Amino acid sequence: MKTLLAGVAAGAMIVGLSACSGGSGGSGGGDGGGDGGLIGVAMPTKSSERWIQDGDAVKSQLEDAGFTVDLQYAEDDIPTQVSQIENMITKGAKALIVASIDGTTLTSVLQDAADADIPVIAYDRLIRDTENVDYYASFDNFKVGQQQAWSMLNGLGLTELDGTPIEGAPAGPFTIELFAGSPDDNNATFFFDGAMEEIQPLIDSGVLVVGSGQTDFEQVATLRWDGEVAQSRMEDILTSTYSDGTKVNGVLSPYDGLSRGIISALTDAGYTVGAEWPTISGQDAELDSVKAINSGEQYATIFKDTRELAKVAVDMATAILNDEKPEVNNTEDYDNGSKVVPSYLLESQIVVKDNITEVLVDSGYWTEDEITG
Ligand code: GAL
Repeated sequence: MKTLLAGVAAGAMIVGLSACSGGSGGSGGGDGGGDGGLIGVAMPTKSSERWIQDGDAVKSQLEDAGFTVDLQYAEDDIPTQVSQIENMITKGAKALIVASIDGTTLTSVLQDAADADIPVIAYDRLIRDTENVDYYASFDNFKVGQQQAWSMLNGLGLTELDGTPIEGAPAGPFTIELFAGSPDDNNATFFFDGAMEEIQPLIDSGVLVVGSGQTDFEQVATLRWDGEVAQSRMEDILTSTYSDGTKVNGVLSPYDGLSRGIISALTDAGYTVGAEWPTISGQDAELDSVKAINSGEQYATIFKDTRELAKVAVDMATAILNDEKPEVNNTEDYDNGSKVVPSYLLESQIVVKDNITEVLVDSGYWTEDEITG
């Protein structure tokens, strides 16, 4: 970290940035010149709306800060992401902001980044098994998992949205199913562990029953967060476990894209909203899922403001390149297998039908027209 500015030297006065032009002669180069330099931004895929918003927000905020940006999407293909990052290094990027596809596959390319004194910020997903990740910008992912559980439990009438038990709540038993995210994404275990911290005691006390019996992370994980994979697993479960007419009352889903697959499976199996339709959680406040919350298909989502996350990552990059210490608020929880990565974790919010306007429209994330249109 301390040496990373070797190549920037006198040009380190990136403060204010937009005004800081080419005076820094020989400052790392390859950036088209005249500005704060090139920053490489590697995003996993455009197939999910949230990463498009993340990419757009990071790019525009970096440009406002005077940088040139190389923003790349890898369509969830690991070798593509590796070569995109390699290319950014070759082009002389001064810093890398990376949302990994598989958090364990970047060790070699990030060694190249370290050899070139390029600092690396892990964006939303922790990059694992390497010393060569300097900072981590994300949300409190364990809490996100708890919020996913609370939203499902709230829909079942068991807890408030903050997890407080509701007095006189029904005794159940409620039948639920569990889904987790991609096993190669460090976040997926955080979400699942957070959710199970809330759900397991209710399974133990008999209030909740997992109909399929599938409760291990390995059984419920969804490779690449693929909605179709979730849909077909839900279809299999409905066939194997619920063909006697038993209804599933709740589904823990860690991501809106999975929730949409689960909703399709339920609809195809004859479930209808308003008639014993289950309570389904989500994450990311993707537009189609906000619409689904409005129509009652999905009960809740977790809003993680991509504009705020982008700001944290951009502030980190700017601080590093100014030879300042980026602000962090967690230096304990994100051990990547090689070291504990200093992190800044943002807070997430549960969105249900009642607070869509307050949380998503008033903050300018979506317009009323987009949601109802
Ligand atoms: C996770 C991320 C979630 C969701 C998921 C699928 O890493 O934290 O918010 O976007 O990927 O894209």
